[in-house]
Parts: sequence; C-alpha cells; structure tokens
Amino acid sequence: MNKLPPRHYEKRQFEEHLQKVVNFTESNISKIGINNPKIGDENLQYTYCGASDWVSSFWTGQLWLCYQLSGKESFKNSAGFRKEYFNELLKMPDCHDHDLGFQYSLSCVAGYKLTGDSEYKQMAIQAADSLYMRFRRIGKYIVAWNETHILGPEKTQGKVIIDSLQNTALLFWASEQNHSPVLRNAALAHAHTMAENIVRDDYSTYHTYNFDPVTQKPLRGETFQGYADESCWARGQAWAIHGFAQTYIYSGDEKFLELAKNLARYAMQHLHQDAVPIWDYLLPEDQVQYKDSSAGAVTAAGFMLIAGLCEGEEAVFYEQWAMHLVKGLMEQCDLTDNPDAKGLLNHGASFVAKGMSDNLLPYGDYYYMEALMRICGHQRYFW
Ligand code: GLY
Repeated sequence: MNKLPPRHYEKRQFEEHLQKVVNFTESNISKIGINNPKIGDENLQYTYCGASDWVSSFWTGQLWLCYQLSGKESFKNSAGFRKEYFNELLKMPDCHDHDLGFQYSLSCVAGYKLTGDSEYKQMAIQAADSLYMRFRRIGKYIVAWNETHILGPEKTQGKVIIDSLQNTALLFWASEQNHSPVLRNAALAHAHTMAENIVRDDYSTYHTYNFDPVTQKPLRGETFQGYADESCWARGQAWAIHGFAQTYIYSGDEKFLELAKNLARYAMQHLHQDAVPIWDYLLPEDQVQYKDSSAGAVTAAGFMLIAGLCEGEEAVFYEQWAMHLVKGLMEQCDLTDNPDAKGLLNHGASFVAKGMSDNLLPYGDYYYMEALMRICGHQRYFW
C-alpha cells in the first residue's frame, strides 16, 4: 500500500463545503438559463454547447444531484428544461458516439431515478440502444468516435478511448431495465478488452487504443489529449480508476476492482504534494506544468468508489486519499467564494495541445460535487 497522504482529514469540513456548493449552484441557475456549459473563458464565464456535445449533460447532472440533496423545485425544474435538448439529440443519430453514456446517464437516467418520469426512461433506453450499435462483435469493443471525427475514418473506425468506461454504465442500467443480458454482455466484453489493451503493465493507461478496423486485431496505444503516446494523461487515468471500479460494481468480477486499485496507486505515486494533478503524469519538466482540476475531481470520486468497496484500514486509506485530493481542489481551484464565477472549479485542462489548458470545465464541477457527496456518505448516483 502507498503511504497515507500527509494530513489527516475529518468529514465535517466537507459536509459544510458541500452545502456551499449546492448554494453556489442555485445562485447560477438563472444566470446559466437553458444553456449547457461547455468550457469557461478568462472571465470565469461559461461558453455553451451546441446541438450535440459530449459535455452537454454535466450541468444537468449537477442540478439533479442538487435536487436530490435539497429537494428544491428550482433544481428539478432547471434540470427538466433540458429534456428537450436530449430529445432532439436522439433524433440526430449521425451525432451519436460513445459519449451517449455521459449524455443520457446524467440527464435521463438521473431524471427517471429522481422523478419516475417514464419519458426519461424511454429516452435513456433509446440512447443505450444507439450506444450498443457501436459494439464490434469480433474485436469485442465499443468504437468511440465516428468517421467524421477530426482524426479521419482510418484512425477512428477501430478506436477505443479510456473515458468509455463511464459510458458503459448506461448499457448496464438499460440491461437491468430491459431484463435482457445483451447490452450488459457488450459492456462487460468491452471492459475486458479495455483491461487487456489500454492498461499498461505498470498500471498507467493509454488514452486511446487502435484495433484494425477490418480484422479487429489489437494494434497500438495512442494519445489524443495527452502529452505523448507513451505518457499518462491524468484525466484518462482518472476515467479508468472510476470506470473500472464502477464495472466491478455492475459485474462483481474482482479483476476489475483489483485493476481499479492498481490504477489508483499509480496516480497516488505520481501526484505532487499539493494534490491537484498536473494534466499528464509523465509530462517532461521543460513543459508548462498546467494543472487539471477535473482530473483531480474524477480521481477523488474514483478513490471514494474504491473506498466503498473495501473494509477497515484499506477503506480509510482510499477515503483519506480522496479527501486529500478534494482538499487540494478546495484550497487551489474552488470558486464558491466568487459570486461572479459560473463554475465551481478553476484550472481545468481540457485539451492542452489546442490551447484549452486553464479553464472552468463542467465535468470538473460535476465530479467535484460527486466526490464531495461520496465523502459525505451519500449513496445514490446516476451511474
Ligand atoms: N472525453 C474527453 C475528455 O475527458 O476530455
């Protein structure tokens, strides 16, 4: 086991902070209106998503979490205003990719779980069916992107990416709703393929992995948003930690829990004292050392997922590490004392090579809230 983080943390300060996050989110409802935050600008204001965007559901998910915690109609109504957006997206199959999981778990699965509205359920099942169409039976993986992606058809038609383990939650959920193993089997097969190919022997991860689009044989790992093909993109590692822990919850297969723990230890070994990850764990020192608060938030939520699956000292170990990361975010990135800010966390790195390196990010905000809630003992989520 790695050493414990340098300080010991009590839950109380996180409970107080979670309440502050809910209040701050409420104060932004009227300012954000019916828009879906995409990425922040230099004034800590959000720019907004177009008709389809992989990040379109994170603010909705944050509103649903706030509704669950507070019971306030303002959160429910604001989340509900987004139903039309996700209904329209269902009518645009050319825009569907593996991110249907993020998009519909946090909007429609959440809405169904919290309100019982069957329209949400139907929408989420339709999205899951569309996601299942991306399953490649011979390669046993879910293809991430479309041939129209900037990388072009040769690169994308056999590509999996590390974030996909969040998206498969929609398949597991829909399988339970349908009382059919088909979608679940695809999600499980994909998770095994990911474990065998996208995770390296030292438990770092590739961002993406290519299969031959015709024979579907494994080819090689490759980055898209990380520093280099053989580096370890911090948010990718975070998606893997959270995603494999979640896959264990859905499958009961111990292999995935062990994997999540080993991936978590890799992250612990590469985090610096201040506990906010640098955007790539293997970034050379001569590069600008941008932080990625979103990687910290997803990692912390993942550590708490693992803590909930362990007992005794081991559970405390992962919980203390999660608190350490969240404390780092609270001290260095949190904006809840700034009434003009539209998001919760500053210093997110969306895509450094494209200059999106120090911004508000809606997924950073969502997972920050999820991590705080997990630390405070809340058990209900939409994955
Ligand atoms: N899904 C891409 C990312 O994490 O930026």
